[in-house]
Amino acid sequence: MRRSILSVPGHLAGMHQKAAGSSADVIMLDLEDSVPLSQKVPARQQLVDSINNLDWGNKFLSIRINQPGGQFAHRDILEIIPRCGEKINSIVIPKVSSTADVYFIDKLLEGLETEFDIVNKIALEPSIEDPLGLENISEIAAASARNITLVFGIADFSSSIGAKFISISGHGENEDFYPGHRWHYVLSRMVIAGKARGLSVIDAPYGNFKDPVGLKRSAELAAALGVDGKWAIHPSQIEIINDVFSPTIEEIERARRVVDAYKNAVTQGKGAAELDGRMIDNATFRLAQITLDKLK
Ligand code: GLV
Ligand code: MG
Repeated sequence: MRRSILSVPGHLAGMHQKAAGSSADVIMLDLEDSVPLSQKVPARQQLVDSINNLDWGNKFLSIRINQPGGQFAHRDILEIIPRCGEKINSIVIPKVSSTADVYFIDKLLEGLETEFDIVNKIALEPSIEDPLGLENISEIAAASARNITLVFGIADFSSSIGAKFISISGHGENEDFYPGHRWHYVLSRMVIAGKARGLSVIDAPYGNFKDPVGLKRSAELAAALGVDGKWAIHPSQIEIINDVFSPTIEEIERARRVVDAYKNAVTQGKGAAELDGRMIDNATFRLAQITLDKLK
């Protein structure tokens, strides 16, 4: 399961240690926007050291490189992958606006994996952060067999479309002024493109780490749309995110009752059954089964 993705700046070793011991499903070591310009190059070495020397247990390990085509992205890959590529599960590609961004990283990785005998095929997670990326999302989702996830980059997306800046962080807080979910269209579009190609979809972080109620609501809205997980920018956000993206006891109980009732109906030669005054059929059964599959 990849419900919570804890994002940590690549140049801050102390935070890597804490992240390794946290309960996040995924740790994402960042080289992009949380790293100041002066640290862009030293952060690569720090990242290699942390990946090689810390005990990451069974965590899924991601790195976020800089934007393809910028001055850092190619060397981020060339300098890191040969030295610890075997331990990296995925690369988050920021600000993907076309398939070319994905092809570029895909081919670079193919060459390095061959040259350095890296057996573990490194996965890709394109991050959608501008309108062109959203326009091209179906092609982006299908651009590489390495793709496993689409990620929503809410702050850059907001700025790139000129949306009103309504909170301090720009990361999903104070959205209640909007009737409904301000990012409903974007997230739903991403869910459709992602799920059509078997990819998971990850929501942007929630910027106010002192507001657990707002975080929970933001995560619940995303989960309701079919989103699978959410970034965390602070360890205090991990448990809430893990909870929201895991089935509750009530949901599990309900799913088990639906599965039992439906199977029972099938053995009696029926295609549908009644449970608590509701009609349940094969589609209800599948929905319940998906809930139970998350427990595996
Ligand atoms: C993340 O990259 C964002 O732009 O919100
Ligand atoms: Mg961004």
